[in-house]
Amino acid sequence: MKIVIINGSARKGNTLTAIDAFMKGALEKNEIEVIQPDKLLIAPCKGCGACQCYKGCVDTDDTNPTIEKIAAADMILFATPVYWWGMSAQLKLVIDKCYCRGLQLKNKKVGVITVGGSPVDSIQYELIDKQFDCMASYLSWDMLFQKSYYANDRDDLAKDVKALKELEEIGKSI
Ligand SMILES: Cc1cc2nc3c(=O)[nH]c(=O)nc-3n(C[C@H](O)[C@H](O)[C@H](O)COP(=O)(O)O)c2cc1C
Repeated sequence: MKIVIINGSARKGNTLTAIDAFMKGALEKNEIEVIQPDKLLIAPCKGCGACQCYKGCVDTDDTNPTIEKIAAADMILFATPVYWWGMSAQLKLVIDKCYCRGLQLKNKKVGVITVGGSPVDSIQYELIDKQFDCMASYLSWDMLFQKSYYANDRDDLAKDVKALKELEEIGKSI
């Protein structure tokens, strides 16, 4: 499969560690590209409606090439730190821009990895998972997994052997 991973974190920290562990397992059988929104120039959606949800975006920045990669993928992995009880703005920015080709993003396989600085029974993980459940239902996505991890300092997840193993196993199963 072609897998596109969207990394919602700008720092080399826990989200990247989670992505690397997943990739360790998934690389053998899949073609993977990681999108780093913080390195791209993507203006927020203006809601102009010119795209009609299939024509692409009127913006001439990195929006269209980025959404083209997502539209061409068999699987999308959304990876995000928890920021203020939700996904990061970097990830949300890309998701909002997916609207410009929303009709071509149906029936994807999808995974979600969330890393936050609070224990995984906290409300933020539930809120984020529910938001992705709604998108999945709207776009008929096949939700393969939604995983949450508790890691605050930049290198916390790298010390969590159980989490790394779990992510590698998930990658292998794809
Ligand atoms: C702006 C900001 C907001 C945050 N808000 C939350 C939050 O609401 N809940 C939470 O559990 N952690 C919160 N955190 C902690 C991060 O989710 C946590 O440190 C995470 O491991 C960061 O991932 P990274 O290392 O990939 O950047 C916040 C961190 C930042 C910088």
